[in-house]
Amino acid sequence: MAISDIAPVSFIGGKLVILDQTKLPGKEERIELKCKEDVWEAINSLRVRGAPAIGITAAYGLYVSMRHELKSVKASGNDFKDKQVFGDILKSCRDYIATARPTVSNLRGALDRVVDAFKNAHPKDVREAAEILLAEADKIRVEDEAACEAIGVNGLKLLKPGMGILTHCNAGALATSGYGTALAPIYMGNERGYMFRVYVDETRPLLQGARLTTWELAKVGIDVTLICDNMASIAMSNGMINAVLVGCTSIAANGDIAAKVGTSALAILAKEYGIPFYVFAPTSTIDFKTLTGEDIEIERRASEEITDMWYLERVIPEGVKCYNPSFDITKAEYITAIITEKGIVRAPYKDGLRENIKGEVTEAEPRVKNTPFSPRREDESSGVGLPDGGEVIEFKDSAAFPGFDDKW
Ligand code: MRU
Repeated sequence: MAISDIAPVSFIGGKLVILDQTKLPGKEERIELKCKEDVWEAINSLRVRGAPAIGITAAYGLYVSMRHELKSVKASGNDFKDKQVFGDILKSCRDYIATARPTVSNLRGALDRVVDAFKNAHPKDVREAAEILLAEADKIRVEDEAACEAIGVNGLKLLKPGMGILTHCNAGALATSGYGTALAPIYMGNERGYMFRVYVDETRPLLQGARLTTWELAKVGIDVTLICDNMASIAMSNGMINAVLVGCTSIAANGDIAAKVGTSALAILAKEYGIPFYVFAPTSTIDFKTLTGEDIEIERRASEEITDMWYLERVIPEGVKCYNPSFDITKAEYITAIITEKGIVRAPYKDGLRENIKGEVTEAEPRVKNTPFSPRREDESSGVGLPDGGEVIEFKDSAAFPGFDDKW
């Protein structure tokens, strides 16, 4: 199986389709997202998850949401020739989808990129406006795929054959449009015969490590061992772990990160045992507007994820209170290095991240022969679908939209 076949998000023939990750590993089920409510629900319930995959889904999601909304506007006999009306509906779809997972900076980042692309362009009709949205979503997906590859190349410089690697949650192919972030150097090392031993935390409460990371690593024959979240200390003290590799959901300007709950405990343990703690993310995850980890809003989720979801019958007494944050903050001081597609950043992160973002993307080495990965299929490129199936509706002359920019 090729990693590109995992395809957590695809846009083929005008349809936005995701692999429903809540059903893995038992069932590989794909579902189509047709409107903003579908997109919100899929992101909120973690059918699609992982910061980059969320961003890509949201970007294409904005396109399909617009198609759906404009169909309704047209069906109600109203006019949407006006660029202002198009812009207003786009903005309301953006605001709606953005609330699905508050901690994920890629979600807001991708939505804003699509909206800005429309704002900065001068479409003459609805077809052109739709093309602009879709082109930006395609760009976000393609950039992410390239970023994963470059992150893998950069990360592999830090690893040696035969290492024991601990990872948390899932920052692999299921979370991106390519190799993943934290798992990218593992896949690349595997291609080169590095024979890593990978330890995966089960990652309570939603078991992304147990259900997803073991699934995707085992598919390509990587040596993978599952541990419970509270076993990291003994694994580290026994010398089984040589490096910790994690992804993250948001990076603040000072290098603090928000990552899957439990990540900060691993970072503190790694420091105690003298094990390097590496964070992997595309530069699209860096949020310079957020100064430190304290400014990051942490998503709180339903108690049922702890009390009921994974038990045949409830084992927790009724009425017991639950605290279920989805992420935690790892302070920059615990992070050995942050690896992006543009290089390796070490403390002090405040300057390092700004320098890094300006840097050139590292050239990826050519893949070795017989790679288990295959290039993304050409047929995944997108086609533009109009709300009414083909009619071109002219915008009025742009001069007829005074105040358009002010409204945004
Ligand atoms: O709640 P999830 O499963 O979306 O959390 C995912 C993570 O914490 C990942 O590490 C992060 O989003 C980066 S994925 C490349």
